[in-house]
Amino acid sequence: MWAKGENRDTVMLELEAALDRDHHFSDGHVISSMCTKPLDIAAEAHGMFLESNLGNAGLYPGTLDLEKQVIDAISQLLNGPADTAGGVVSGGTEANITALWIARNITGKKKVIFPRSAHFSFHKACDILAMESVMVSLTDDFTMDLDEVARHLDGDVAAVVGIAGTTELGAVDDIRGISEMLPENVFLHVDAAFGGFVLPFLRELGHDVPDFDLSIFGVSSIAADPHKMGMSTVPSGALLVRNREWIRTIHKDAPYLDMIGQLSALSGTRCSAAVAASYAAMRSLGRDGYTRIVEDCMKVTRHALASAERLGLEPVIEPIMNILCLRVPDPKKVQKMLDQRGWKVSVAQNPSSLRLVMMPHVTMGSIDDLFAELEIVLGEL
Ligand SMILES: Cc1ncc(COP(=O)(O)O)c(C=O)c1O
Repeated sequence: MWAKGENRDTVMLELEAALDRDHHFSDGHVISSMCTKPLDIAAEAHGMFLESNLGNAGLYPGTLDLEKQVIDAISQLLNGPADTAGGVVSGGTEANITALWIARNITGKKKVIFPRSAHFSFHKACDILAMESVMVSLTDDFTMDLDEVARHLDGDVAAVVGIAGTTELGAVDDIRGISEMLPENVFLHVDAAFGGFVLPFLRELGHDVPDFDLSIFGVSSIAADPHKMGMSTVPSGALLVRNREWIRTIHKDAPYLDMIGQLSALSGTRCSAAVAASYAAMRSLGRDGYTRIVEDCMKVTRHALASAERLGLEPVIEPIMNILCLRVPDPKKVQKMLDQRGWKVSVAQNPSSLRLVMMPHVTMGSIDDLFAELEIVLGEL
């Protein structure tokens, strides 16, 4: 700790210097992130609720009500039945860990089956919860191989996880197919951390989107992150659970807190400003606002695909969502060379490819500039 405090100007200069070294969505060069610049109203709402802490909800009945409205709105979006319950969490990782925690407690079993395409948060969850992970291969369309799932289903299985919008490719597992093969006592968690705020709007735009959410009776819980395509601030994720009784299985008493509800979350103190930000984003955009945003992202994605094809590059799969993975020679080297030119793109492992995420801050112009650089980089390989 510094021995003496510093004056405001000095502190602010130091902060600005740090901020200057960061990348910013507004310059259009970050094409690797699943987050984006939050809506202005979401950022403003975040600033208004800096004191709120739903870890001690008795002090914040107003914020608690906003959380309920956010969860109800996401539940409507994802076709939750009347008894759906849940909470705003810090993101997809916390939602996934919490879902498996509930699954373990309800079933008293420890095996979790998930596809190789699953986010690494499931490995964290298994580690923390002392659960056994069983990773299943993918079929040619990069979705979970259901025949292999069937081979692993035995009396020890607590949960099966399906992904509605994989991190690398944006692929959507056959959630209905999975639900139909599961015995009644196996928990089915859907990770729609990214897809939850994309797939419903693609459907509105007339895309052929398979059922993936709580409309399928066998789906026990679903994660969807407002801080990704939900246009809210970091950190905001959401976990919805089909039956509110299940959440009680992770409840712990906290007698010292001024509680009016159940303390049923992994976190104690919670960044509740993000609850207000998520409310502000969802209330101001509504379904039609999100639909327009997703439509724009898909236009930019198609533009990126056309630009890639002009360079003779093939996509790993036709983009389902606003993620495009391209087969390029030596993706890691290409990524590094683009990085040296000020572009942030990522690399997918499975299969090895250059990964672009067309979030709302990525414009047609940034794609044109990126592909001009990519052409040079590929020429220099
Ligand atoms: C499908 C999926 N699930 C979970 C996560 C983890 O989300 P977070 O980084 O918000 O914890 C991600 C992050 O990219 C994701 O793509």
